[in-house]
Amino acid sequence: MMPAFTNFYRGKTVLVTGHTGFKGGWLGAWLKSLGAQVIGLALPPATQPNLFDSICLSCGMLSVFGDIRESSVVSSIFRQHQPEIVFHNAAQPLVLRSYREPIETYATNVMGTAHVLDAVRSSPSVRAVVVVTSDKCYENREWFWGYREEDALGGRDPYSSSKACAELVSAAYRHSFFSREGTAAVATARAGNVIGGGDWSEDRLVPDIVRGIASNQPVVIRRPDAVRPWQHVLEPVRGYLRLAERLYHNREFAEAWNFGPRESDAVTVSEIAERLIAAWGAGELRVQPDPDAPQEARYLRLNTNKAEHRLDWQPLLNLQQSVEWTSEWYRAYYRDPGSAAGKTAEQVQRYSGMMPHG
Ligand SMILES: NC(=O)c1ccc[n+]([C@@H]2O[C@H](COP(=O)([O-])OP(=O)(O)OC[C@H]3O[C@@H](n4cnc5c(N)ncnc54)[C@H](O)[C@@H]3O)[C@@H](O)[C@H]2O)c1
Repeated sequence: MMPAFTNFYRGKTVLVTGHTGFKGGWLGAWLKSLGAQVIGLALPPATQPNLFDSICLSCGMLSVFGDIRESSVVSSIFRQHQPEIVFHNAAQPLVLRSYREPIETYATNVMGTAHVLDAVRSSPSVRAVVVVTSDKCYENREWFWGYREEDALGGRDPYSSSKACAELVSAAYRHSFFSREGTAAVATARAGNVIGGGDWSEDRLVPDIVRGIASNQPVVIRRPDAVRPWQHVLEPVRGYLRLAERLYHNREFAEAWNFGPRESDAVTVSEIAERLIAAWGAGELRVQPDPDAPQEARYLRLNTNKAEHRLDWQPLLNLQQSVEWTSEWYRAYYRDPGSAAGKTAEQVQRYSGMMPHG
């Protein structure tokens, strides 16, 4: 079998913002296994338990706790460590929280992104940057079909619009400062709703189910019929790794990219919940629509033809496998929390083994 990413990441200095979170944790773990010199910048983990501590992510990498809302914190990381590749993941990623804390959400998601890109501007070492935004950056028209990269940006809640703003900031920096040869190649990545082991965030479906099962409480679902593009966390993370590798060699990839599941895998909230409970063999669902809950879009799908054709990226796990890998991770954790690092490494390995070209 060809080594994953054919040794591209071995020995490269890679900065991951948001490494104490869910996606950043999986990305950091995968990069370490590929032999990269990983530097992480994020706030300390926000939940207990959390992926960062449970897999000892900081072992074998440099983990820095700092706030991307402070430009001096961001620029000093770049000055000290001179990364070649940057994955900018750090964000306030929760829609409901963005209603409670809109200013903090914009400060982190928009100005935080500007601080990272501005630090890249003064860092000749950087060749590739992937800015992680979201499927929610599109102006939602309640289409049944998937949004394409060219579709209009928008967002009716502070989180979604902050991600559209992060897209605009990235596009403006790209055109203003990163268009010449020798400057960094900057792309943005819009992925769907991600599931997988190690997420304990507030107000998210899978963590809510996991907490319900762990405490023998029924899981309350408030928007059972909302359709979302669910995918296992390793899918977009592989997309980010692939994209950065291409960007490093060729600035033609410096644009926006969707990473989503197969079309048939965009299903309702209640279907995901039922599948997870069935895979775990425990848990109880209670559907309780909340008339006072903020409005949310009913349909959200992503079109990923561009990534399939130009990055040779397509989903490797179907929905049922994604659910099973997720429940397998949490069941192992709740049987023995000490097994989390091994389970994470094993799933990364198993997934890498499914990759078509190394
Ligand atoms: N999880 C999903 O389903 C999903 C879907 C689409 C897009 N995304 C995007 O993916 C990225 C990662 O999301 P996640 O699910 O891993 O979220 P998470 O909440 O698990 O992690 C967020 C990370 O950002 C860091 N962070 C937050 N505010 C910060 C600040 N001011 N300074 C420094 N670090 C800060 C946190 O410390 C944490 O490490 C985010 O950009 C999010 O918007 C996530």
